[in-house]
Amino acid sequence: MKHGFGSKCVGVIGSLLLVVGSVWAGEPPPERMALLQEDTFGPGMGLYDALRRRHASRDFDGEALSLEQLSRICWAARGINRPEEGMLTIPSGHNQQDLTLYVFLENGIWRYNAEDHTLIQLPETAGMDYRAQTGEQEFVGRAGANLVYVSDTTRYAHMTDVVDRWAGFHAGVAAQNVGLVCAAEGMKNVVRATFSSQGLERLLQLPVGSVAVMTQSIGP
Ligand SMILES: Cc1cc2nc3c(=O)[nH]c(=O)nc-3n(C[C@H](O)[C@H](O)[C@H](O)COP(=O)(O)O)c2cc1C
Repeated sequence: MKHGFGSKCVGVIGSLLLVVGSVWAGEPPPERMALLQEDTFGPGMGLYDALRRRHASRDFDGEALSLEQLSRICWAARGINRPEEGMLTIPSGHNQQDLTLYVFLENGIWRYNAEDHTLIQLPETAGMDYRAQTGEQEFVGRAGANLVYVSDTTRYAHMTDVVDRWAGFHAGVAAQNVGLVCAAEGMKNVVRATFSSQGLERLLQLPVGSVAVMTQSIGP
């Protein structure tokens, strides 16, 4: 296992140091949105009914998602479903857990932090609406949320023959989890490949090797 209790502790301590460090430097810590825990979600619709209803929708009207809806989507996309082992709702090659979920809302861009099930705002985007920048179709800016799936391909860069396939596969399974949640909850969604990877990588200030792989529009 690559991400056990030890690495979780290191992650938590690292986050604390970052917060303390930024307060020390006079910067306020980034805005955090606590999401609802998975055990509050209830039984929901059966899997086969969700599969029967899954389909692409593009008729968004700008309505925002509720906290409940956001919580379910983030957890389904790459949340932790086995906390004692730090394992996720999606599989990943060699358990590298390379996928990061960015959520574009009307009030900024947020990064999903599975360890404490929160959304952390990118401070420089606070209060600004970048939803339309996640795609090229006219409906994109009217989606309640746009998801951007980013893979840190450096985690398996030594296996050059798998990089592209694994990044795409991981985004695909996450997007399908989200699509099924949307079907089960009566929400709209469409996965989208028409977007500028480079534009998003610049906007998100991603390090070299991190790739914007796929986008998905969601509406209530
Ligand atoms: C890899 C991939 C890329 C896609 N890109 C777009 C896109 O850029 N814009 C869009 O509106 N739909 C996009 N779609 C959605 C497909 O058009 C849609 O899934 C397809 O028409 C089948 O419809 P269904 O999902 O309702 O079964 C994409 C789907 C996949 C799997």
